[in-house]
Amino acid sequence: MVQAIVPATTANLGPGFDVLGLALNLYNTFTLSEIESGLVVEASGNGAERLSKDENNLAYIAAKRLFDETGHSVGGLRIGIDMGVPLGRGLGSSSTAIVGGLAAANELCGGQLSRQDIFALATEIEGHPDNVGPAIFGGFTICYARQEAVHAVSLKPSNNIKPVVLIPSSMLETKKARSVLPESVAMADAVFNIGRSSILVAALLEGRPDMLRDAMEDRLHQPYRAPLVPGMDLVIEALSSYSDIGVALSGAGPSILCLVARSKEAEYVELIKGVLAELGQDYAVVSLEFDLEGVTVKN
Ligand code: HSE
Repeated sequence: MVQAIVPATTANLGPGFDVLGLALNLYNTFTLSEIESGLVVEASGNGAERLSKDENNLAYIAAKRLFDETGHSVGGLRIGIDMGVPLGRGLGSSSTAIVGGLAAANELCGGQLSRQDIFALATEIEGHPDNVGPAIFGGFTICYARQEAVHAVSLKPSNNIKPVVLIPSSMLETKKARSVLPESVAMADAVFNIGRSSILVAALLEGRPDMLRDAMEDRLHQPYRAPLVPGMDLVIEALSSYSDIGVALSGAGPSILCLVARSKEAEYVELIKGVLAELGQDYAVVSLEFDLEGVTVKN
């Protein structure tokens, strides 16, 4: 029996569409064991009743992919899932299933594949690297592809910065949130995002919360997704007079990520709650920490 514990993630961080991501300290745990035959999926925790318990289960699909890749054959498989990451909220729950299934299956096969191999398979299954990257490597990851190969660098975000996520009760499918994006964008918008994402890297590494508002602005995906997440623009606008609060859609949404100056965390959490109440927006405000480890596997 092996266990993979996988952190939640927040991707894009505003301007870094499909490139930047952070791992957060909420976890899903995947426990895999070989059984004689068949597939048994047992899930507990928040949203467990919504998970597929058959061969469409994402952790199973990922595990099977790993077995096929390594030529390992199992009679049957039991998968236990304990959910601590809210499902379908833009906090990387699908990525946890992909990474958990791959990493646990890899351990069952004797750990033949490296983290980098798992990253490549996970990206292929997910379709983009910015959630699976931080889920595997932890911390602040920058991901890119070159000639079909994906690469990631994992960096330690400054302790001066604190993540606070605003989680709604509704869900949004990533597929739907990607379907509203344009095929091409204006050069001016591309240049705008290059500037913002470069500054964001500096802010996160140098610990410059004063840059966060500007650094998390985006023109490549959020404007198109705004109609799907009606609260997002209102919250961004309402907090825009604070240069040390950055606000962006978390992944494809519908959660909203705020990165704030850690020294003002308590004050800003109250401010954000007040803004949400004033706007009539119903989000749970959750203060988190960065996860620096990525997936951990236990035997
Ligand atoms: N970069 C992806 C997107 C993250 O915005 O569609 C989704 O999980």
